[in-house]
Amino acid sequence: MTTYQVIQGLEYCPDAAAIRHAIIEVEEGYVDTHDEYDQTGYHAVAYLDGVPVATGRAYHDPGSTVYHIGRVGVLAPHRGKHLGIGIMGQLESQVRKVGGTRVELSAKSSARTFYEQLGYSLDGEEYTIQGCPHVNMYKNL
Ligand SMILES: CC(C)(COP(=O)(O)OP(=O)(O)OC[C@H]1O[C@@H](n2cnc3c(N)ncnc32)[C@H](O)[C@@H]1OP(=O)(O)O)[C@@H](O)C(=O)NCCC(=O)NCCS
Repeated sequence: MTTYQVIQGLEYCPDAAAIRHAIIEVEEGYVDTHDEYDQTGYHAVAYLDGVPVATGRAYHDPGSTVYHIGRVGVLAPHRGKHLGIGIMGQLESQVRKVGGTRVELSAKSSARTFYEQLGYSLDGEEYTIQGCPHVNMYKNL
């Protein structure tokens, strides 16, 4: 059975921190994935039969109704089971609930199709972050 939790503040959501570490830092080799938005942001976690397997984060700049989604990842053995879609759905619902009107994100170019299937549109040219090609994408809620 798949269940989801959305919690504000990474310090209250160690499962999100652990999954992010396993995927984004260990598997993909990014550094410095923590910032000030971890504290104010919403962290979604997917559980498969009680085991945490996927995460993602949404935050906004104070005074804005634009939210930013990122740090999205599903543990490798569990990809392709629509858990990524589930995490995005949880985050978008949370954004709507707190008055957000638009979501923006920086997608790895290899994941562009994943976000397009969820209704996100391309915004601008490709660029690199820590050597990896990315594109900006957005969706009005
Ligand atoms: C990208 C990622 C989050 C997708 O999660 P997932 O649970 O495997 O994806 P889902 O099962 O929800 O896929 C939903 C749809 O998107 C497609 N899709 C998933 N990943 C894709 C990718 N990298 N490229 C293109 N399409 C993709 C799936 O085929 C699926 O389509 P379908 O409904 O026709 O079967 C996951 O592969 C992952 O964690 N990758 C490593 C970390 C990463 O790249 N994060 C994104 C950073 S921007």
